[in-house]
Amino acid sequence: MCGIVGYVGKQSALDVIVAGLRRLEYRGYDSAGVAVVANGVIETRKKAGKLINLENEIESTPLTQSHTGIGHTRWATHGGPTDLNAHPHLSEDKKVAVIHNGIIENFSELRTELIAAGIKLQSDTDTEVVAHLLSSILPSVKNDLAEAMRKTCGRLRGAFTLVAAHADIPDLVVGARRNSPLVVGRGENENFLASDVSAFIAHTRNAIELGQDQVVELRADSIRVTDFAGKEVAVTEYEVTWDAAAAEKGGFDTFMLKEISEQPKAVADTLLGRIKNNRVELDEMKFSADELRSVDKIIITACGTAYHSGLIAKYAIERWTRVPCEVELASEFRYRDPILDKNTLVIAISQSGETMDTLMAIRYAKEQGSRVLSICNTQGSTMPRESDAVIYTHAGPEIAVASTKAFLTQVIAVYMFALFLAQVHGSELDLEALVGEVADMSAKVDLVLDTMQPVRDLAKQYMNASSVLFIGRHVGYPVALEGALKLKELAYMHAEGFAAGELKHGPIALLEDGLPVFVIVPSPTDSPVLHEKIVSNIQEVRARGAHTIVIAQEGDESVVPFAHHIIRIPKCPSLLQPVVATVPLQVFACEMATLKGYDVDQPRNLAKSVTVE
Ligand code: M6R
Repeated sequence: MCGIVGYVGKQSALDVIVAGLRRLEYRGYDSAGVAVVANGVIETRKKAGKLINLENEIESTPLTQSHTGIGHTRWATHGGPTDLNAHPHLSEDKKVAVIHNGIIENFSELRTELIAAGIKLQSDTDTEVVAHLLSSILPSVKNDLAEAMRKTCGRLRGAFTLVAAHADIPDLVVGARRNSPLVVGRGENENFLASDVSAFIAHTRNAIELGQDQVVELRADSIRVTDFAGKEVAVTEYEVTWDAAAAEKGGFDTFMLKEISEQPKAVADTLLGRIKNNRVELDEMKFSADELRSVDKIIITACGTAYHSGLIAKYAIERWTRVPCEVELASEFRYRDPILDKNTLVIAISQSGETMDTLMAIRYAKEQGSRVLSICNTQGSTMPRESDAVIYTHAGPEIAVASTKAFLTQVIAVYMFALFLAQVHGSELDLEALVGEVADMSAKVDLVLDTMQPVRDLAKQYMNASSVLFIGRHVGYPVALEGALKLKELAYMHAEGFAAGELKHGPIALLEDGLPVFVIVPSPTDSPVLHEKIVSNIQEVRARGAHTIVIAQEGDESVVPFAHHIIRIPKCPSLLQPVVATVPLQVFACEMATLKGYDVDQPRNLAKSVTVE
């Protein structure tokens, strides 16, 4: 969603900000703007559309050289993606510039109040009201921008990251956050503010987590953080473990292709140091063995692709630990009055750690007295901070909007957690063998990646299909859902995933001549009954003229007679199969989008980090 960059320091603020916005493009946006403070004036440039439009605008009407500025990529909520609605927004006297991520829920009431006070609003946004409000408070606090920001925040409801600059205070940028991300980068005689560290990673790896309801005053040589009441708070500084190169395309045409190729490493990195002597060791697990043994129900909550990893987790957790496990879309969770208590463990899964639906689910669970474990890829993000414990996935930065390597590492993390819990419970299963199988998954993903050309050819063959279906049983079902989601979000095609057993209860009516249907087939040796059932499903599909694209493990010859196409994946226990079976579906969707000429990394209407409910 919206990307925010703020800078005070020795370099050209404009250069730092535009480069930072470029790195935040992946978050998804539809307009962009900058403001710099120069000679007692705020100069702004704003343009609808991609960053290049803004850059062209700046080239034709250059800005004065400045060392203080703010920049924004906007994902429209209130008001369409126009030049006028793009951020920054200015106060009436044009002294205050504000950028914003999130939604101000009481904006219409504030707007009415401002209009009654004679202020003429220029845009349709909720952000502009903040610029006017901030400006109106300034005289009462002796033009102290940070204090005015604190007081302004006190008037706002909703989720927001706000960053402001003032024409008469050339060396200061002020930021505030509630329910929306904002990270500080500490440099040498320069400091940065951004929605995430990728915006400033080329300049510094030293980052500071900003907590909930905090205001930061950023100067070139100082960073001061207070709460909304003005009390100074201690901050946690951390070093970002990846560098600028990790957030570059590295010779690939798209970030998604690069990230798909990075999956063996991402899986290996997520396992690194967590398997010792064929046992899972989670040093970061803050729950004691007794606490874990007292858990009588697990609820997993997440959105989109992360939800699919949660669905896979349910099979592993219940099979290996026998602890009942439910999985729920985070956007539904708190509205249905779920039954939670202190013995319920809620697991929130999120790549970004900022997804508002999941964050709200976490807060709700905590209010009900449940313990919360988050599985997250982003250090310093809100979810790990608000959870009782965290298992970090080590996928590295995922820039493409479509989640690939983050998904695979989430699945690995949930396997590790399930095995850890099974160890704690003293399971009689051969856990050591299972741990060994999980440890082998990185190499298996590597093998799959080596055999993807036929999958790309299939995309060519089915480019004009009106629809693509995906079916699977057991953990193959969430894989089917994930395959369909990838194709929808990247290739804008109608795609549906079904539990194969449900086909006959309705979706079978969709089958017609030539319709491509992906079938995820479990291991015949590991799951003979399931295998037999899915072979029947393949026959049902084929009998109705649809084309079967069968994903089956090496050596499974029984499916050959019924498959129009076979995609081979390495042998592994059925429960672990999603780690390899998902990869061809990612490649298929990516290739399909490329063939259709779509933007693979930034599909239309989508944002990488969805920070509104
Ligand atoms: O950052 P999160 O993992 O919480 O994001 C959840 C979903 O928004 C995300 O997985 C989304 O579905 C992806 N674009 C799918 O590729």
